[in-house]
Order: sequence, then structure tokens, then C-alpha cells
Amino acid sequence: YFMTFLKLSHFIVLIPVETMDSKQCCVKLSVQPSRGLLDEKFIVLVQSVPPGLQLTVHALHQCEDGHSWEAFGHYTADASGNVNVSEDPSLGGTYSGVEPMGLLWSLTPIPGSKPGLRMRKMNVQTPMEVTISVYQGHQTEGFMDQVALAGVVVERWYMAPGVRRIPITEDGLTATLFLPPGPGPFPGLLDLWGGEGKLLEYRAALFASHGIASLALDYLTPEITMETGKMVDNKYVEAAYRVLQQHPQVLDSRIAMLGLSLGASVTLKMAAYSQVVKVRPVCAVCVSGSHVQPVDGFLKELLNAGKTRYNEENQVMFRELLLPIPTDPSLKVDVGRLQCPLLLVVGEDDQNWPAYESAMDMKEMMERAGNSHLLTVLSYLNAGHLIEPPYTPHFEQFLLCLVFAVMALWGGETLAHSRAQEDAWRKTLVFLRENLYATAAENPQCNLTFTELQM
Ligand SMILES: *[C@@H]1O[C@H](CO)[C@@H](O)[C@H](O)[C@H]1NC(C)=O
Ligand SMILES: *[C@@H]1O[C@H](CO)[C@@H](O)[C@H](O)[C@H]1NC(C)=O
Repeated sequence: YFMTFLKLSHFIVLIPVETMDSKQCCVKLSVQPSRGLLDEKFIVLVQSVPPGLQLTVHALHQCEDGHSWEAFGHYTADASGNVNVSEDPSLGGTYSGVEPMGLLWSLTPIPGSKPGLRMRKMNVQTPMEVTISVYQGHQTEGFMDQVALAGVVVERWYMAPGVRRIPITEDGLTATLFLPPGPGPFPGLLDLWGGEGKLLEYRAALFASHGIASLALDYLTPEITMETGKMVDNKYVEAAYRVLQQHPQVLDSRIAMLGLSLGASVTLKMAAYSQVVKVRPVCAVCVSGSHVQPVDGFLKELLNAGKTRYNEENQVMFRELLLPIPTDPSLKVDVGRLQCPLLLVVGEDDQNWPAYESAMDMKEMMERAGNSHLLTVLSYLNAGHLIEPPYTPHFEQFLLCLVFAVMALWGGETLAHSRAQEDAWRKTLVFLRENLYATAAENPQCNLTFTELQM
């Protein structure tokens, strides 16, 4: 994929604007950096247009599944004929106000798309490509049928230059290890996603781009389960932990665990109970998760813990599965036993999982047990369940394929959810660095930008 880096260079298209006949005028559009990490901000500039001109800045992305997503904002050029999307307000469109990254976080499926779509990158070795274009006037539809004044293709990468991707199949694991650039050794992270299963690599790739060796693990739908029909147990997760630990480029005593949703249940369980002392993470991050699960058991017991409920529109209300939070100690992880720092990231409008109620109960349990000094809770008003890396679009609902396909509700309001993603990601990286490195100086790479890493 290094060839790709060399081949594709940033381009600016200059199209004479015929409709602005009097002056010989060319619209200049630039996006900097035009190639960056997914969580890097970019600056979109439109220059050389007639002062006061109304224009629409538009983003178009075609997913790997073929579906197209778009976002746009309405702007008015200033007295010098410029628009700076990082400083100027959008007057309408899919976002409004000064929103430097609104062109990404407000992406929605183009009109006419089927409902319930979700954007997920499966091949992290290629970038997410977004075409940023400028159109004359304040447009709201029909972008495909019009000629843009200018356009730029922007690449958003999960893997920074030099990050290595290593598929792992030993011990029957379905996993992928991402190693940061450089000789290491690096601290490690075991990265677990939620109830949909699949081997999702994009978050682990991004963590490796920030200096942490990260192992993405499929614990719900791994090869071994698909072949035998049997769900994996604690030993499977412990084996994955050991793969990280025994890797020559990973610091064996500096390993963290991070889980979202169901992955958070697994993380809490391992952090509190693992019999293998060495399989205790030095810190844990739980995003939109819960400690409610039968203590004796693993996934099967957890998934059978309650009955799914539906609302009037036939949307699943998974959060009801675990509510009310039980008082019986055998039905929840005893977080009072935790000996490592724990970061909880919670959306207060999570319609999928009772993450907020669980966080409050965990806080109380830890206060009673005297280990609440280890707890940090990041709780976000009007944020939903899927708190992902920054600028990921917000999904209110999408078709979830578990045993059967259901329309699942995730909750959250787009702007608040996007703010939460940005803030939570930054604080998660700080939390991991603080706990995984004795000193910041140990990790000179963690603050480098994509461009600096390329050099
Ligand atoms: C655009 O706005 C950003 C953020 O305020 C600023 O750093 C940058 O210098 C501006 N660019 C121009 C050309 O005005
Ligand atoms: C990286 O950034 C963090 C937060 O901004 C800072 O605390 C840390 O010292 C920086 N590390 C290095 C090596 O510059």
C-alpha cells in the first residue's frame, strides 16, 4: 500500500466559472492535509470567488458496500472572495454554524438510499476517500447532476505510514495485530467490539497509529465458532492477551483492554476476575458498557440474561435486557475488586444498552469498596451508544444482523454525539498514555501527525 501513497497526490481542479462571465475567474479549492489520519482535522478553503458569492461545500463518500453518503454546508464568500470552513459559519445544509469537521460527521446516506445503513471500514489498508466539491448557490439536492466549480479528493487513513498489520490465527484466534511504526517495544491494547461480531480492525489500526500495539479480536463470530457452532470462553480471550504479551515488540507488563458495548462486559470480567494474574490489564476502557452479567459464565449466559423487548415500531430495545440494574451480587461484575484504573465512556441517551445506569451503579460499588479513586467517568448528554473515533457519522438506527436482522436504536442527537466522540477519543488517548507509559518522553511517536510520520 505504500505505492498508493506515492501514486495518489493531492490535486486541485480548476474550472473556469462560466456563469460568472464578467471576470476571468477560477475557483480554488484546497483541503489541508488532503491525506491524513481519520482523527485529524482538516482545513477546507475556497478562494478566488466573487465577494459575497453564495456557494455550497459538499462532501461525497462511497462506502465499500457501494452506498453513497453526503454532507454539505451553505456559505457566503467574504469581501476578499474566500471561505474558510474552519472559521466561517454554515448557514444551512446538513450542519450549521462554524463546524470545521461538519463535512464528515454530518454525512448521511444520499436521498433514495435504503434505511438503516451504517458506515464501517472493513479494509483498513485503503483510506476512506471523500470528494470535497464546491457548487455555486445554496443547493440542497441533485449534486450528482451538476458540474462542481472545483473538487478535491481527500484521503482519511486508519493506518499511519509504517503501521504493520499482522493477521493472527494461532491458538484458534481470529484476530489482527497492528504494530506502530518503529522498532518498539510498544505498550499493548486488546480491542473488543460489541454484539455484532466480525473482525473489525479500524479502531485498533488507529490506536497503532498513535503508538500503541493493538490487537483487534473477534470473540463472538470467530472462525472456530463459525465452524463448530460453539461460543468461545474466557480462555480464548486469555490466549489473545498472551499473543500480545509474548510479542517481542510489545511490553508484556504494559497492556490495556478496551471494549465497546458487549466488549466492555468482557473487559470488566477479565480485569476483575481473570485467574491468570498476568492477564490483568494495567488499565481498562469501557465504552457504552455494563457490568451486569452472571459472574459464573461467559457470553452465552450474558446473552441469555434477559428478554429482548420491541417498541411500537418494531425496533429492538436491548437496554431493557439488563434493567433494572440487579442488586444480587452474583449478577454483576464486582468492580470493587478492580485494581487498575478504569475509564467509562457513556452516552446519556444510549437507547441500546443501560450504560449510564450501569456507570452510576459501578461508581457506587467502587465507592463502597474504597477503590473509586481508580474510576473516571466521561458521561455525555444527548450522546448515543456508538461512541466511535471522531468525525464518524452518527447513526440513529441501523439494520443489525444478529441471529435475525433487527432494526436497532442507538440514541443520541447528531451534534452532541459528534462532540462526545471527539472529546472521548482525545481523553481516551490521554488516559491510555498516562497509564501505559511511565513518562510521556517514552513515546516520542504518539503526538506526531500523519505527515510527520511519513517523513
Ligand atoms: C482557516 O482557519 C484556520 C482555523 O482558524 C486557520 O488556522 C487558518 O490559518 C485559516 N486559513 C486561512 C487561509 O485563512
Ligand atoms: C503529547 O501530548 C500530550 C497531550 O497534549 C502531552 O501531555 C505529552 O507531553 C506529549 N508528548 C510528547 C512526547 O510530546
